[in-house]
Amino acid sequence: MNKYIKLPGLIDIHVHLRDPGQTHKEDFHSGSVAALAGGITTVFDMPNNLKPVFTKHVLEEKLEIAAQKSACNFGLYFGTNGENISEFEGIYDKVVGLKVYLSETTGKYTVTDEEKIQKIFASWICPKPIVVHAEGKKADLAIKYARDFKRKLHVAHVSTAEELDQVLEAKKSGMPISCEVTPHHLFLTDKDLDRLKGYGLVKPPLATRKDQDYLWAHINEIDCVASDHAPHTMEEKESDTKYFGMPGLETLLPLLLTAVHEGRMCMDDIVRMTNTNPQRIFDFKQNEGNIVEVDPEFEFEIKNENLKTKSGWSPFEGKTLNGKITNVQVKL
Ligand code: NCD
Ligand code: ZN
Repeated sequence: MNKYIKLPGLIDIHVHLRDPGQTHKEDFHSGSVAALAGGITTVFDMPNNLKPVFTKHVLEEKLEIAAQKSACNFGLYFGTNGENISEFEGIYDKVVGLKVYLSETTGKYTVTDEEKIQKIFASWICPKPIVVHAEGKKADLAIKYARDFKRKLHVAHVSTAEELDQVLEAKKSGMPISCEVTPHHLFLTDKDLDRLKGYGLVKPPLATRKDQDYLWAHINEIDCVASDHAPHTMEEKESDTKYFGMPGLETLLPLLLTAVHEGRMCMDDIVRMTNTNPQRIFDFKQNEGNIVEVDPEFEFEIKNENLKTKSGWSPFEGKTLNGKITNVQVKL
C-alpha cells in the first residue's frame, strides 16, 4: 500500500511576509519558499507593512513585488485605519478582503474610535470578508457592525473560550461569520512562556490550557487554521524591545498531521480548515494541480537550521512531529 497521502495544496489565509519594508525579517521570496516547504501553495498576506497597504498605489506596488518574487500563489489584503475609506472603491477586485485591527499589534494601526469602526463597516460595499483582529470583547463590536451592515465577517486567530463563544453564538444566529485558529494557540500555552521567553510573545498572547482545551473541544466548529506567520529576527526576539509574532508556515501542516496521528482530528479536518473553507469564505478558486504529498507517519524533529524562513527559528524547535511533507506541486 502507498504510504503517501495527497492533499490539495494548503491555503494560508493569514501571513505577514514583511515585503516591502522589513525584508530583513522575511520577503516574498523567502516567505513563499517557506510556505511551499510547509505544503502551503497559496498565502494571503496582511497589510500591516511598514508603509501600510492603505492606498491603491501602495497596494499596486506590493502586488508588483509579490508577482515578481513569490514562488507560490498569493492574495493580498487591503487595510484601513478609517482614514482611507475613499480608496475602497478602486481596490475591491484586487484584494481578498479588508483587514481591520481593533486590538494593538505590530504596526500600530489599531482603530479604537467606534464612529470610525462603524464607518468602515458601512463603507466596505463588497462581498469579500472584513477580517478583524479583535481580542476579548472586541469581537462583539465587530459582530455588531457586521450584523447591522450585513457584511461578511471573519475573526482572525481566535484564542480563548470567550472569543470563540462570541463567534459561535453569532454563527447560530445565521449571520455570515467565520473564524480561524493558529497552530501556536492549538499547540502552545502560557505555560510555555518561561521556556520561550521573548520568542513566545505573540498577539493574541498564548492562552491558558483551559482555553486551548476549549478550542480543541470545538475543532469541528472552527472554520480555518492559519499560521499568522509573523517573523521577527532572533536578535529582535532576544532584545529588550517587545516584538510580537512568530513564524509558522513550515510547522502548520506537520503539527496538524501530528494531531491526526494522535487522534485529535482527522485528515478531512485538515482539508476543510486549510483548503475547502478558505476557498468558500474568500470566494477564491485555487489553481487546479496545487497538490501536497505527505508521509503521515514519518517522524522528524523540528530544527531551526532546516527552516527556509529568513527569520531562522521556530517556537517548536526540538519538537518531534509525525507527518512530513514529501512533495509539493504549485501552478503559478
Ligand atoms: C503580527 C505581526 O507581527 O505582524 N504579530 C502577531 O503577534 N501576531 C500581527 C498580528 O497578526 O497581530
Ligand atoms: Zn497576523
